[in-house]
Amino acid sequence: MVHLGPKPPQHRKGTFTDVSPALMSTLKELESQFTVSGETLRKIVDHFITELDKGLSKKGGNIPMIPGWVMDFPTGKETGDYLAIDLGGTNLRVVLVRLGGNRDFDTTQSKFALPSHMRTATSEELWSFIADCLKKFYDEEFPDGVKEPLPLGFTFSYPASQDRISQAVLQRWTKGWSIDGVEGKDVVPMLQSAIEKVGVPIELVAVINDTTGTLVASSYCDPEAKLGLIFGTGVNGAYFDVVGDIPKLEGKTAEDVTPDTPMAINCEYGSFDNEKVILPRNKYDIIIDEESPRPGQQTFEKMNSGYYLGELLRLILVELAENKKLIFQNQDLTKLKQPFVLDTSFPARIEEDPFENLSDVQELFYDYLKIETTVPERKVIRRISEMIGERSARLSVCGIAAICKKRGYKTAHCAADGSVYQKYPGFKARAAKSLRDIFEWPADLEDPIIIVPAEDGSGVGAAIIAALTKKRLKEGKSVGIKA
Ligand code: BGC
Repeated sequence: MVHLGPKPPQHRKGTFTDVSPALMSTLKELESQFTVSGETLRKIVDHFITELDKGLSKKGGNIPMIPGWVMDFPTGKETGDYLAIDLGGTNLRVVLVRLGGNRDFDTTQSKFALPSHMRTATSEELWSFIADCLKKFYDEEFPDGVKEPLPLGFTFSYPASQDRISQAVLQRWTKGWSIDGVEGKDVVPMLQSAIEKVGVPIELVAVINDTTGTLVASSYCDPEAKLGLIFGTGVNGAYFDVVGDIPKLEGKTAEDVTPDTPMAINCEYGSFDNEKVILPRNKYDIIIDEESPRPGQQTFEKMNSGYYLGELLRLILVELAENKKLIFQNQDLTKLKQPFVLDTSFPARIEEDPFENLSDVQELFYDYLKIETTVPERKVIRRISEMIGERSARLSVCGIAAICKKRGYKTAHCAADGSVYQKYPGFKARAAKSLRDIFEWPADLEDPIIIVPAEDGSGVGAAIIAALTKKRLKEGKSVGIKA
């Protein structure tokens, strides 16, 4: 049977007769600003490939292409107890992973809500918060103590340079984080000393990116998994390259490493096109960038990741209401004018509203923003949300296509995780359709490159990587650049 993927959601054409001509013409203008044709996608992908290569070169480029020092594929026979922590946007997740040795595992986890000010707290506050959570978890799970320190894999999902797997020098915060005193520093000693202060026998053995964890956890279970991807608050991808194809590692690896040794690469492609030559940015993208804590950075991410989709919608609505005076007239816009007041669940819920008169949207706007909406306004809001969601999905897959083309993968499972992938309505279908637009596969060919749900990368992936690292160390093999 030919599988062409799920059908993308259709917007409701021909139902805009009650929308005023002025609003309609603005909507058309927005449509042209948010539409990305197949041809544009293909041009973006071509440039993306050049940039991935540049990132691996000695000179480097915008895309960091960070070697993650995972140099073995998991065998599935890894065993033992490992701790994993994942510092996400809203939670700190602590996971105990018991690797069973037969491609199987058990996990026990706790989630600790990050206090709302944590994104901009002090460095000490951050590390001691994490250490306190680890202690709580440890006390609960190991009331009788442990014989050997527990190996910990730390999923730190920000661009961090690594000369070895137990090091992570933060290049810059992303996704709205901005804690002073961490950029340019190795986070490992900071966390390890906070752990020592709370006095728990935990040894930080590996720092990994969430995409690398996703790649490794998924390839542990599925040999066809070639990419690990996150479509969430941020966007990024990881894949296995070989050391011989990474010019910037030339002369830097130890004797046990050969040109065909695999190397997980955390692309950090959220920074694609920071020099702004190819992405079709519109004025809302420019505002988002200029008003962010790190203007000029993460250009690609700012156009399609979950952290920004609600904000894009908000900026457009403020413009339509305040500057153009086309919607929400004579209403209090105070709440709507608060930056980032709408998170991604907002456009997602708008797109999900099943009712013809969009009554869910009506409720949402009233409950959340104290704004009354008319039916035509709601139709316009819905259409704008679709445009934002659709563009996000279309741009998102450019990274996948570029890696697959670069590595010559004709078929692949691209293991994906993240809130946008999991929860944004229509994302999966739109992404599959966009891959088709890029690769121009014949209509009767089943999609050879597909996005599949990932295994738990930041838990199981981090644990497997900790296990692989322990094993390499035991065998006297290198886990970083040569000493
Ligand atoms: C970070 C990456 C991360 C991605 C997804 C980006 O903002 O720079 O390290 O993988 O978000 O979480």
